[in-house]
Amino acid sequence: MTTPHTTRIRAGVVGATGYGGLELVRLLAAHPAVELTYLAGSKEGGPDFTAWFPHLAGIIEAPLHPFDPAACAEQCDAVFVALPSGVSGQVAAQLWERGRRVIDLSGDLRVPAELYRAWYIRDPVDPAVQAQAVYGLPEWHRERIAKATLVANPGCYATAILLGLLPLAAAGWLNPARPVLVDAKSGVTGAGRTPTLTTHLGELYENFFPYKVGAHQHTPEIEQELGRYAEAKVLMTTQLLPVARGIYVVAYVTLDRAADVAQVYEVYREAYEDVPFVRVHAPGHVPQMKHVRGSNFCDIGLFVDGRTGVLQVFSVIDNLTKGAAGQAVQNFNLMHGLPEAMGLTGGPMFP
Ligand SMILES: NC(=O)c1ccc[n+]([C@@H]2O[C@H](COP(=O)([O-])OP(=O)(O)OC[C@H]3O[C@@H](n4cnc5c(N)ncnc54)[C@H](OP(=O)(O)O)[C@@H]3O)[C@@H](O)[C@H]2O)c1
Repeated sequence: MTTPHTTRIRAGVVGATGYGGLELVRLLAAHPAVELTYLAGSKEGGPDFTAWFPHLAGIIEAPLHPFDPAACAEQCDAVFVALPSGVSGQVAAQLWERGRRVIDLSGDLRVPAELYRAWYIRDPVDPAVQAQAVYGLPEWHRERIAKATLVANPGCYATAILLGLLPLAAAGWLNPARPVLVDAKSGVTGAGRTPTLTTHLGELYENFFPYKVGAHQHTPEIEQELGRYAEAKVLMTTQLLPVARGIYVVAYVTLDRAADVAQVYEVYREAYEDVPFVRVHAPGHVPQMKHVRGSNFCDIGLFVDGRTGVLQVFSVIDNLTKGAAGQAVQNFNLMHGLPEAMGLTGGPMFP
């Protein structure tokens, strides 16, 4: 049992029946400063959330509601919205306009209208609302998040890729003449809970394939964030792994200078020396997905290839934790003046 915090913040999860929402519920149930007061899915509710999700029996008491913005705003001080893109941003905007602190896990609030239209191929939310949303990557926007009332939680691939590349961009080490090539792989929970042909066992088990080649919707938020420091183009290949959780990124970077791995390591060590959830490993260590599973850590490994001069950045997260719910709770903590790591200090599940 965790010791309750003296003042508890009433928090709700909209989309609590999805994979991101369920991970939020798991984390918030153990958060010492949170009282979980409101859970909603898209279908009908019921008094017992755990009848649908027996793994949370004895842990969750809040009932499951069909979503009602007025009731949600009345019962919560802060709301996590984890609905499909296209719906999520609208619901987040409704709750934010009712004066609640809101963290949206979808892509709807991460990029401005024109980029959104081009990459998500649908109408954006009100640009005036999107403009108020702070991009919730705490390691790079801590002060802005602390003042925000509306946060756009980053995408899972974007989190791993940006944490892996931003130290180089901020140090001015990216070569603007060369695109960064990113090989990115995700476990199947990244696609959400609704089964599809490509995610069901018979198609994915013992299989492995790229998807959304040249068209992944996290590309614009990655270039937007790198672009705060330097002109940068990123070409990524997203691939589906036959595992439940985890994102593994390898970025191939041509630097704008000759540097050995010790110098590169120093750039990363300085960038992340005061943050709780990025572990920069000494040169020679290559991280694995099970080193972060179920935790809020991002593990980074570095290798400079002497023959080609290319830097390989290895960046690993759990897509549902640092890639979604854990990062959302980290943002919630900052927005409420709580210690950044509160409720997130559980170690990874290994093996
Ligand atoms: N999965 C990840 O690794 C991950 C990582 C980062 C960000 N995200 C983002 O987080 C959001 C949720 O993702 P997820 O993986 O949790 O998806 P999911 O497993 O498919 O869950 C979606 C949730 O939204 C509800 N829902 C579905 N359609 C709806 C509609 N038309 N109106 C209202 N509610 C609806 C579902 O309720 P019912 O169960 O009642 O249908 C469920 O609670 C997405 O925007 C996704 O891009 C996901």
